[in-house]
Amino acid sequence: MTTQRLRVGVLGAGNWARTAHIPGWQRDPRCDVVTVCDPVRERAEETAAQFGIREPSVDWQKTVARSDLDIIDVATPSQTHQELAVAALESGKHVLCEKPVAYDFRETLRAASLAKRKGRLTKLGFTFRYSPGVQYARELIDQGFVGTPFIFNGYEQNSQWLNPQTPLRQVDPKADPAVLHTASLEGYGAPIIDISMWWVGAGYTRVTGTMRNFIPERMVRATGKIMRMNIDDGDIYLAEYSNGAIGSVQTSFVTIGNYPGIEARIYGERGRDHLPPGGGVWGRRDDQDRDARRGRVQGAGDPETLLSHRRPRPGVLALAVLRQPHQGLRRRDHQRHRPQPGELRRRRPGAGSDQRRGTVVPRAALGRPPAAAIA
Ligand SMILES: NC(=O)c1ccc[n+]([C@@H]2O[C@H](COP(=O)([O-])OP(=O)(O)OC[C@H]3O[C@@H](n4cnc5c(N)ncnc54)[C@H](O)[C@@H]3O)[C@@H](O)[C@H]2O)c1
Repeated sequence: MTTQRLRVGVLGAGNWARTAHIPGWQRDPRCDVVTVCDPVRERAEETAAQFGIREPSVDWQKTVARSDLDIIDVATPSQTHQELAVAALESGKHVLCEKPVAYDFRETLRAASLAKRKGRLTKLGFTFRYSPGVQYARELIDQGFVGTPFIFNGYEQNSQWLNPQTPLRQVDPKADPAVLHTASLEGYGAPIIDISMWWVGAGYTRVTGTMRNFIPERMVRATGKIMRMNIDDGDIYLAEYSNGAIGSVQTSFVTIGNYPGIEARIYGERGRDHLPPGGGVWGRRDDQDRDARRGRVQGAGDPETLLSHRRPRPGVLALAVLRQPHQGLRRRDHQRHRPQPGELRRRRPGAGSDQRRGTVVPRAALGRPPAAAIA
């Protein structure tokens, strides 16, 4: 057995590389982050200094072509993923790529078959899969808790971009505004789609749904201007899985709710697993249902029972709740605000995250941005 550590090159020294990818690699003693590459030299150098990475770089092509790297980690803006990931595979590297791999699923399939041909391993940045709630629910499913899956319901929704002044990232400012471009579906849908297929144990065969652009003009980080952005702020669809299960998914980043907003349920012949956005792992046993119906057990009619880390018994119904470890909810996210007549609740101007508390503002204050600010 070799004791050599896997040598990693990280592409992108932005927010997500610094807060998630590089710290993640460095927590694993089997890995050595050898280089971090970003075309913005100061960012590459500062990040290298911050994490003790020996070789900052500004040239992704040279980085990808290095023969002394085992893994390339693509943590760059979404529209660059496909080119970088394919180049890394071509040069024989294993690849961890942020989602989405590409904007056309056929390109993603091509990248997957290239990896197969090259005998390389690939992985996507599906962080929610590693949340304790999701893992525990999957453990229950593996134990036969749910049995044959029937129905999956999923949400990923929050109000991160409800305020049009919050600078929009990971969009192409040159995109044709006459065509609706996916944003919520790929950025927010991806993790819930992953959980859905992982729990149900099958991929989709048929999907039908709809997408909407609710907020037409937004501040775009790349241009610093308010612009027409024809992106899906929200979407809903129904799906059929190859194993006979069916499901529904809703994603949005303009829906007031709990951040990060993941909610997932699976129902099967024996029970259900469920992830509402609150924290903890919850469940309900079928015998409680029976006893409640017969009026025998006090409290058995309560909607859910906290399972916590108790081992479930076979044949029971389960309910699990997700909290992403690094993005815990704050108590105030759950506080209810009661707008007065004639008022609407709105996030504080400039607030970019559900983690900030909403405020009550007069309806008249909810105007569109001034025309002069529109590009
Ligand atoms: N999985 C998740 O939960 C999750 C969470 C946040 C972000 N993301 C994804 O991670 C990716 C990065 O997000 P971010 O917020 O860090 O973006 P960011 O814009 O803050 O950082 C991206 C960095 O990549 C650099 N870059 C651009 N082109 C490059 C190239 N060819 N080679 C090397 N570096 C290049 C940019 O200069 C920038 O510093 C996005 O695709 C985003 O959707 C995923």
